[in-house]
Amino acid sequence: MTRLSAITPSGHAHLGNHLGAIRRWAREGSPGDLYFVSDLHAMTVSYNPSRLRKLSRELLAVLLAAGIKPDRVFVQSDLVRELGALSWVLECTCSFGEAARMTQFKQRADGQGTVRLGLLTYPVLMAADILLQGATEVPVGQDQTQHVELARSLARRFNTTFGEVFVVPRAVMAPTAARVMDLSDPTRKMSKSTQDNAGVVFLLDEPDLVRRKVMRAVTDNENRLEYRPTTQPGLANLLEILATCVGRSPIEVADEYSSYGELKEAVAEAVVEELSPLRSSALELLEDVTGLDAIRAAGAERARERGQHVLESALRMAGL
Ligand code: ADP
Ligand code: NA
Repeated sequence: MTRLSAITPSGHAHLGNHLGAIRRWAREGSPGDLYFVSDLHAMTVSYNPSRLRKLSRELLAVLLAAGIKPDRVFVQSDLVRELGALSWVLECTCSFGEAARMTQFKQRADGQGTVRLGLLTYPVLMAADILLQGATEVPVGQDQTQHVELARSLARRFNTTFGEVFVVPRAVMAPTAARVMDLSDPTRKMSKSTQDNAGVVFLLDEPDLVRRKVMRAVTDNENRLEYRPTTQPGLANLLEILATCVGRSPIEVADEYSSYGELKEAVAEAVVEELSPLRSSALELLEDVTGLDAIRAAGAERARERGQHVLESALRMAGL
């Protein structure tokens, strides 16, 4: 079994990415699981090239620092030639209607002045990511199920038309993990792409900045320290963050504090403690440029080898 997961370098990785995904990947992943930094996917909207390069590198360091094994990680663009070739074959297996039907495309294209063609074809690139690595399972949230369905359809169609070459992947529901909300607006999830960063704790933020962001978190005036997500979302978010960091339930944690200030200090310390080892390890990796380059190159080489047979067979069967 090979499970494939990705994270897009559209911004700096944050506490939500860590508690909701990265930490779980490092702790609960099976030996066959694969992870990649999906920098090609970051190009579907307006972006800055040198920032993208920096963010991809940083995200790779973060994944490694979190404890994901170096031989299970790669950067997507290191396979751009292979993925480009396979994407073309798959684009010619996909109908325009199928691509245009993707709800995420419709949502993301809506309201944008210029819609990049890559935004339309991105699910086909995602199919190439999956099929090239021979992934059997793709953990997804609700918004990605349709894309994995497309990958399944394209794999089956190619296999039927040209010959059996692709493993047909399955979408599996990603286990429900903590959903971390923005500290300055607990009605929106903490996100890489939020413009106003005051409520986003980045994994590489200095400890004092983490503390300041937590201490300034928006709560309420009710002055009752209970876990009530609907009526006290800001407080509930803090309780969930603390609970997830220390491995207990938010209700248990709520019982232990009587003032918001006291709770915030505990959250700040727990988050700093959770992130400190990751941060120092990531910074160390980033400082050792040749060392990180070598890890990256080895990861790319393994990923390329994993896909080589599938790519060559697919090209040949397609008549190339
Ligand atoms: P972002 O919204 O910050 O760009 P992505 O969409 O790249 O994050 O998500 C990468 C991974 O991190 C996914 O597995 C996603 O479920 C998880 N994730 C993102 N934001 C949060 C959050 N606020 N709380 C919990 N998990 C999150
Ligand atoms: Na996002």
